[in-house]
This record gives sequence, structure tokens and C-alpha cells, in this order.
Amino acid sequence: MSNLSVNHLLGIKGLTEADIRLLFETAMQFKEVINRPIKKVPSLRDITIANVFFENSTRTKLSFELAEKRLSADVINFSANQSSVLKGETLVDTVNNILAMKVDVVVMRHPHPGAAQFLSERVDTCIVNAGDGTHEHPTQALLDAFSLEEHLGDLRGKRVTIVGDIRHSRVALSNIYALQLLGAEVQLCGPKSLIPKHVTSLGVSVETDLIKALKSSDAVNMLRVQHERMELSYFPSTREYAQLYGLTLDKLQTIKKELVILHPGPINRGVEITSEVADSDQAIILDQVENGVAIRMAVLYLLASKISTPAT
Ligand code: CP
Repeated sequence: MSNLSVNHLLGIKGLTEADIRLLFETAMQFKEVINRPIKKVPSLRDITIANVFFENSTRTKLSFELAEKRLSADVINFSANQSSVLKGETLVDTVNNILAMKVDVVVMRHPHPGAAQFLSERVDTCIVNAGDGTHEHPTQALLDAFSLEEHLGDLRGKRVTIVGDIRHSRVALSNIYALQLLGAEVQLCGPKSLIPKHVTSLGVSVETDLIKALKSSDAVNMLRVQHERMELSYFPSTREYAQLYGLTLDKLQTIKKELVILHPGPINRGVEITSEVADSDQAIILDQVENGVAIRMAVLYLLASKISTPAT
């Protein structure tokens, strides 16, 4: 069986196109499994996985936990805000204590960019990055691209626009890498203050006018404004941001073309997207969530197969 070129999933950077294709083929098989009456396989019954979350999460945490349970892994959950981290314990000490309980895989979300890489260099276990600060969110990008392929087919030559708070977004960076590996063109749109200059070196185009950006796109990924990561004010008011960069039915009617609309969640309804658009047929937001479980099953299955031979 072919396998991933990596032993950890730290980011999309570092993966190959063949890795992504293998992950998607495996996810397709698991998607079929989770739509059966019995949604479970014994593939990881000898594997123990710790979900270690130093930052809040709804989708990613539940999706990983469900993926692990669907694969029959043993699962333990750790939330920093209910732990001895509050008593001053370090990241490495925390994880080493968890690993002393014979854990095979650590799925970690952390507010600091590079935290997953840091950990992978210090502990002898498989690390899966569930989001590290403003850096990467690889499983989100994988489930986004997988969902897009379901709706658009081959992404080669398709243009995907990522709109909003690129500066503070780990979803944006991971999406840029994944979409480019799959041959898509990536366009960024938002206020100049939220698009750092260095991203143009990644081979993306930038358009600050949302209507122009939408007209030239096949799909649009609407990002949340991440106030919790902002030390400064990057635009005059939320109202003005919504007027210029919020996706509304009016704007979609103006461009007179069908677009596939993604959002990684959580949504700020009425800011980056209106309820009418978020709940419309063009939006695939809940498909993304559904596919997230199959993608995370594929990630865990393929990485675990590098540390053991999972049961079939
Ligand atoms: N998309 C995403 O990462 O959502 P959560 O923060 O709820 O996990």
C-alpha cells in the first residue's frame, strides 16, 4: 500500500500532491463507511489518541473525536483551561505526561504558530496539527479542497478566492498551499490592512474589490474576522467591513453567476456572510463539516499505519 511522505501532519507545506490524492482516496472510502447504518470500522482498535486543545474549538475537536471513534481508537481529551497548564506546566511536560500513559498519536491545537513542529521535534510520537495560531490548519484545508472537488471536479485551472482576514488566518495559508498543489489559482480579497505583503510571494493574486474578485472566481472561501488575534484595529468599523467585504445576496445577484461558497466556521452572521447566503444552496458549509470527519479519519488512518499495521 502507498503511504504518506510524512510521519506527522504539521501543515500542508511539506505534503506532496500524491499525499493529498492518497488522503482524498482514503477519505472517499471512509465517507462511504460513515454513511452506512454501522458507521464504524476496527482499523485503529490498537491505537490510543489524545486530543490536546490549548485553544477553543467546536468543529475540529468534535470532528477529530468522532473520526477516532469511527476508527475504533481509544480516545482521551485534554482542554488546557481545565488542566494543570493553569498551574504553570509547560507544553512539553504536559504532553510527556500524556504520552507516559502510552498514547500513540497527539492531535493538538495551540495558539502559537509552530507549536506542532516544536512538539514533533521533542516527543517521540505522531503529531497532528489541529491549528497552530496564525500558521496552519491542515485538516481544514484538506476538507475544504475535498469539498470543492466534490462540487467543481478537478481543481486544475479553477480560481478560488479567499476573502477576509488573511493576516490572522491559518485557514488561508493552508488553503493556499493545498489549492496550489491541486492546480487551482488562488486569489485573495480583503482590505489591504488584512492582506500581508509577503503572501504575494506565494504566487497568489490580490484583488481588493469584492465584486471584481467574485466575477472572476469559481468558488469563494469567506473567512471570519479574527478579533481575538488582533492587537490593533485593522478597519474603521465592523459595519463598514460588512458593507465592503460581507457576502450578501445582492452582491451574488450583481455578479450574475453561480459560485461555490465555503466558510470554515465559526460564522459571524451579518459580518462576513449574511444568513441568506450562508443558508443558501450555493453554500457548502455543512458539507465541509461532514467531509471533515472522513478527511480526519483518512489522516489518522494513514499516519497510524506508519507506526503500526492497523487492522483492516
Ligand atoms: N473551522 C474550525 O477550525 O472551527 P473550530 O475553531 O470550531 O474548530
